[in-house]
Amino acid sequence: MKNNHSNIKKAKFFLNKKECIGIPTETVYGLAANAYSDKATSKIFKLKKRSKKNPLIVHYHSLKTLKKDCVLNDNFFKLYKKFSPGPLTYVLKLKNKSQISKNVTNKQKTLAVRFPKHFLTQKLLKEIKYPLAAPSANISTKISPVCKEDVKDEFGKKIKFILNGGRSKIGLESTIVSLVNKPEILRLGGTKINSINTILKKKLKFNRKIKKILVPGQGKVHYSPGIPIRLNAKEPMSDEAFILIKKRKLSGKNFYYLSKTRNLKHAAKNLYKTFRMIKNKKFKKIAVEKIPNSGFGQAINDRLDRASKY
Ligand code: TXA
Ligand code: MG
Repeated sequence: MKNNHSNIKKAKFFLNKKECIGIPTETVYGLAANAYSDKATSKIFKLKKRSKKNPLIVHYHSLKTLKKDCVLNDNFFKLYKKFSPGPLTYVLKLKNKSQISKNVTNKQKTLAVRFPKHFLTQKLLKEIKYPLAAPSANISTKISPVCKEDVKDEFGKKIKFILNGGRSKIGLESTIVSLVNKPEILRLGGTKINSINTILKKKLKFNRKIKKILVPGQGKVHYSPGIPIRLNAKEPMSDEAFILIKKRKLSGKNFYYLSKTRNLKHAAKNLYKTFRMIKNKKFKKIAVEKIPNSGFGQAINDRLDRASKY
């Protein structure tokens, strides 16, 4: 990536023109636009075919800028110190005088914010005068992108520029924690709940069945490769792609390993990549071996479960 300097310049050029671009993060690629601009952020919803009711995560480089937009509290500082920059998103109270576009929040009084870890995006954020609203760079309900080619696969020529930052290291979205009232987990992801619990000295709840849908990523179908998925499969049927997390003695052409050693972190990293590969190979069905429901396995199972609601 020797062209980093000129690529960041290009990224800035398009963002300043209120266009959307693809940006790399350590979790997944984002579809980014100026979070202070109504015009720029409205394009995100159009491109993604996303409901206007579904608020966006805003990406920051410094606390100084964040302070202008959100009310920060003790729990935030504790978690920030430990996990940021990194795969944790905080839902905070929005300040009245914040410049954040109303498109971003769906006129709610809260804002989801994150400090991404990818060096290119950090550099970019440092050089622009506004934070970046960026949902995952995929069409709504579809598979999230983990490299530049995936973003191209989703949007083709509809977006003007993608900042190439190689493959996303984590490969799964950030964990979302709401710190507005009593802290609670709204989405499982790249930061383990147990690690958050240790820092806050609390046992946070993850309630997938919140009545008022706060996180539409919790909606029924999501992260979907667009074909039926059979969970907890022992063996594949002949027409199924088979996803596994541990090497088997007898393997088949239709076998796809998320990990060969049951490493759940590797498995999380490979999940979306594998979904997209299987989709592009034109399989009609997927079977998935049982994934242990601990650590990153919880986030993987959450995605599998929702992807299987196709
Ligand atoms: O890892 C990530 O978080 C990636 C990268 C690009 O940063 N972004 C991402 O954004 O996953 P998105 O839009 O695909 O998912 C964000 C989720 C949505 O389900 C949205 O409903 C929820 O965050 N959300 C956004 N603002 C919120 C708020 N104020 N309160 C509760 N949930 C919110
Ligand atoms: Mg998404």
